[in-house]
Amino acid sequence: MIKSKTNNIVLIGFMGVGKGTIARALIQKSKKIGLDTDDMIESMENRKIKTIFDEEGETYFRTLEKRVAKWLEKNVKNCIISTGGGFYKVDNLDEIGTIIYLQSSFEGILNRLKSHENAEQKLAKRPLLSDFEKAKKLFEERIVSYAKKADITISVENKSVNECINEIIKKLKIK
Ligand code: S3P
Repeated sequence: MIKSKTNNIVLIGFMGVGKGTIARALIQKSKKIGLDTDDMIESMENRKIKTIFDEEGETYFRTLEKRVAKWLEKNVKNCIISTGGGFYKVDNLDEIGTIIYLQSSFEGILNRLKSHENAEQKLAKRPLLSDFEKAKKLFEERIVSYAKKADITISVENKSVNECINEIIKKLKIK
């Protein structure tokens, strides 16, 4: 059941798992409004995530995520919120809304990204995916934490977007 305090749905999970795609499908189906934490950061900074990482470093980016998290908690209700893969670390995640972890194996994520028509672009915009060995290590470090933070875990591997959103809707008991 969805947390009533904010009525927000927050999608977490590793880079490339499909948080944005599933969020957009959920937005269409539920007629809610959608927000994306990476998009919010890009507009706050008026530069791309990749440029923020290159020019300021990851620590600076993480402080921006924390600022966005505080703002969401204070100001946002009834939204579908997709997040960057490291956003789950913010202190107040639980206060923002019902947390849904989109889960897949690392291989499943790579296959999904590679099968995309603009695969190169999808990989290039994600600085932490530039080295697959390092990315796999990060994935393994994070998977336990994602699951711990989640109110609901949905396995997305080998499922269509529709199957995933129907499962989410059923588990949340929303229309
Ligand atoms: C990150 C994931 C990215 C983006 C940034 C850092 C991470 O978002 O926030 O590059 O730490 O996993 P996506 O999960 O949308 O790729």
